[in-house]
Amino acid sequence: MTVLVTGGAGFIGSNFIFHMLQEHPDCRIVCVDALTYAGNLSTLDSVMGRDGFRFIKADIRSKEAMEKVFSEEKPDAVVNFAAESHVDRSIENPSIFLETNIIGTQVLLDAALRHGTARFHQVSTDEVYGDLPFDRPDLLFTEDTPLHTSSPYSASKASADLVVLAYHRTYGLPATISRCSNNYGPYQFPEKLIPLMTINALSDRHLPVYGEGLNVRDWLYVEDHCKAIDLILQKGRIGEVYNVGGHNEMRNIDIVLLILSHLGKPESLIEFVQDRKGHDRRYAIDPTKIHDELGWLPETRFADGIVKTIDWYVENRRWWQEIISGEYRSYYRHRYGETI
Ligand SMILES: NC(=O)c1ccc[n+]([C@@H]2O[C@H](COP(=O)([O-])OP(=O)(O)OC[C@H]3O[C@@H](n4cnc5c(N)ncnc54)[C@H](O)[C@@H]3O)[C@@H](O)[C@H]2O)c1
Repeated sequence: MTVLVTGGAGFIGSNFIFHMLQEHPDCRIVCVDALTYAGNLSTLDSVMGRDGFRFIKADIRSKEAMEKVFSEEKPDAVVNFAAESHVDRSIENPSIFLETNIIGTQVLLDAALRHGTARFHQVSTDEVYGDLPFDRPDLLFTEDTPLHTSSPYSASKASADLVVLAYHRTYGLPATISRCSNNYGPYQFPEKLIPLMTINALSDRHLPVYGEGLNVRDWLYVEDHCKAIDLILQKGRIGEVYNVGGHNEMRNIDIVLLILSHLGKPESLIEFVQDRKGHDRRYAIDPTKIHDELGWLPETRFADGIVKTIDWYVENRRWWQEIISGEYRSYYRHRYGETI
């Protein structure tokens, strides 16, 4: 079986490739990635050149490039991780989000249809449901929660979901969708909360926390997300959406305090900065469907996963130091007004 993984040089895609090569040694993995600022070939060092793995630098928005990939590789399944994924960047420059996340997905769907691909899995996000109030802990997102997006990022992901479902309904494309909560783990780009705070704390720099840090996210260890996608590929029902979440709601400020405490750094490093525009208050996923239908349950407890993750950034300084010495440095200066 050949699985085409798009966006595999990014955070979750690379972890998914490692998971698949480990759990399904007979599987051939073809990774397509445009290597945008968020994609790092060094992340894939451990699998480069290995039998059963091929990396192709290509843009999912390019029909010609995708036609070539599908003709050469004839994938049995596609798992689409490729996306612009950072909400702050989407607020500053929405167009690239619409182009990659919507048009890029449609280019892949067309290629999958033309080549009779047996399974197309779209990796989506809980952000398509909008947000929940702080004072209603009983409310959780289910697969039937109406789409109600807040940012250009989430609007682009919701649009892509609708296009995937339309290709299933209209053309019979065998597609599935997963909508996952916030992931954390190794190889996450340093602009996201947990690596950003860890790396800044390690470097004794300010930790910029939005507003008062009260926004709540449901955190899932990346390996658990990868296992969920693997299960959906194997046993998920065609045309269905599956929510994936850890039942692990945390306020941003509590995560930041935990990181400081684990690294033995002072709380005085925290700097509250102006809140994100339209900042979603709370996300919380109800994963009952994937549990009941596919038997999925998160395996890594947050208390263990967060320590593993912080320690990974401590032990893999070279990986993130190479990143922050590049384009990310000017983005950071623009965003937070200080040099990294
Ligand atoms: N990170 C999370 O917490 C989270 C949660 C739920 C869902 N998701 C979804 O999971 C997917 C992966 O997220 P991530 O955090 O790994 O993102 P990421 O930003 O780390 O990686 C995205 C990858 O896609 C590649 N890419 C971007 N544009 C491309 C294009 N036009 N053609 C080919 N490749 C391109 C990038 O080079 C990068 O390697 C995204 O679709 C995201 O919406 C992420």
